[in-house]
Amino acid sequence: MKNVAIVTGGARGIGLAITKRLIESNYIVIVSDILEGLVDTEKIENSDCHYFKCDITKKNDIIQLFNFVKATFDKIDLLVNNAGIIKDNMIWNMPEEDFDKVIDVNLKGTWLMCKQAAIMMKAQNFGRIVNISSRAWLGNKGQSNYSASKAGVIGLTRVLALELGKYNICVNAVAPGLINTPLTQNLKPDVLESLINAQPTNNIGQPEDVANAVMFLGSEITKFITGQVIYVDGGKSISSNMF
Ligand SMILES: NC(=O)c1ccc[n+]([C@@H]2O[C@H](COP(=O)([O-])OP(=O)(O)OC[C@H]3O[C@@H](n4cnc5c(N)ncnc54)[C@H](O)[C@@H]3O)[C@@H](O)[C@H]2O)c1
Repeated sequence: MKNVAIVTGGARGIGLAITKRLIESNYIVIVSDILEGLVDTEKIENSDCHYFKCDITKKNDIIQLFNFVKATFDKIDLLVNNAGIIKDNMIWNMPEEDFDKVIDVNLKGTWLMCKQAAIMMKAQNFGRIVNISSRAWLGNKGQSNYSASKAGVIGLTRVLALELGKYNICVNAVAPGLINTPLTQNLKPDVLESLINAQPTNNIGQPEDVANAVMFLGSEITKFITGQVIYVDGGKSISSNMF
């Protein structure tokens, strides 16, 4: 049987690119998102692409998702925790609820998904989990909520690598930098330009760049790589951008 993957937040942006990359590589993909489905222009005409509406902050949604996967495919080879949100502001202007919401989706939602995946993968003695963190975990002004959530994702990744390693389950993270998606297309043009100018490669990454790293970490050949972070950021993580 083909490999089976879940991609959270797969309806658009990076998650959609990951979904397409996995389908090309012969995976069955269950796309889960809070949206009603993929936007029409991006519909994937392939019977290996399934859509399951699931809010990763809701434990019951997640349990239903895993019940569906178990009943339909009886296995899960790969979980890609990609769903994430931003609500940027300097800390003195940040409403407490914007801190809670970002932590709830980016960190707790990822933890809830990992928990159900770990139960199923441990029972089958195989699995791969790839968590989408962000280069911003190193610190970005205006992102105290987001950077903290993505740093938490890396801590979570490292702990799960320790806990699940002996069950043939590898858990790794990908930390994208500036990537061209609906999330970054909402930035003011002058802000986007200055961010691009601060890149060592002087450009913006594409969702497919992230998808390629996920494909590598999610595959069976990476059985001796776990608890690691791969940056897909045009080199931005190499040094501080203060100058
Ligand atoms: N775009 C970038 O430059 C960039 C950089 C670093 C990290 N990232 C991370 O990559 C991931 C994808 O980002 P993107 O740019 O494609 O964003 P996006 O906003 O284009 O897509 C995110 C998807 O997640 C879904 N989602 C949001 N909340 C959800 C929830 N509670 N349950 C299920 N799905 C939910 C959204 O509906 C959307 O389809 C995020 O985790 C983001 O933090 C993005």
